[in-house]
Amino acid sequence: NKELTVAIDGPAGAGKSTVAKIVADKLEYIYIDTGAMYRALTLKALQEDIDLTNKADLVKIAQQAKISFSKNNKQERILLDQQDVTSQIRTKRVNNHVSLVAKVAGVRKELVKAQRKLATCCGVVMDGRDIGTVVLPNADVKIFLTASVEERTTRRFQQLKDKGVNVNFAELKEEIIKRDQLDRNREVGPLQKADDAVEIDTTDLDKKDVINKIISICQEV
Ligand code: C5P
Repeated sequence: NKELTVAIDGPAGAGKSTVAKIVADKLEYIYIDTGAMYRALTLKALQEDIDLTNKADLVKIAQQAKISFSKNNKQERILLDQQDVTSQIRTKRVNNHVSLVAKVAGVRKELVKAQRKLATCCGVVMDGRDIGTVVLPNADVKIFLTASVEERTTRRFQQLKDKGVNVNFAELKEEIIKRDQLDRNREVGPLQKADDAVEIDTTDLDKKDVINKIISICQEV
């Protein structure tokens, strides 16, 4: 059995990371959450009080930051300069600023380089916005996961509620729409379906069905 490279892209809240993690577990591949990397950089920029319109400073941060992943009790953790920032990268503040950092070409250049390196070792499932188009254009399997904005907001809302975080539904929806818009319309590495990606609309699908569908696509390769 050849170890595959699986790219999963799509808009915010489409369920990419949930699905990608389970697919990776089932295939015994590593899972790489590239959104977490952009989030970690954004956190660092905010912590260091960097002006987010200052591209040169953002690129400097991207060059200096040490981002790595580790697994603890089966939980994915992300480390920024040796500190565990797994929960800190999920705040509203990071949500609202990450697309500004992610649109800077020099920042993307650094992270794309790091992401390609992470994918060279073994079977890998990587999720993000530009994996099938830019990071791993030769991926064996490319999936583009979508769902209606309403459904994506509902899922995020529920996820947060389960964690004990109360948010306003309408605000959350606006946040998601705005982030998608920025991600779709940027010049470098925009959110876009690769020509050879399989699009799966998950609006009316069970998580299990989505996972099985992706696994069966992998088995056909
Ligand atoms: O996947 P997640 O929602 O955590 O991603 C957070 C943000 O990181 C996205 O809204 C996008 O701005 C950026 N991102 C990106 N390219 C990727 C992954 C994420 O620009 N490959």
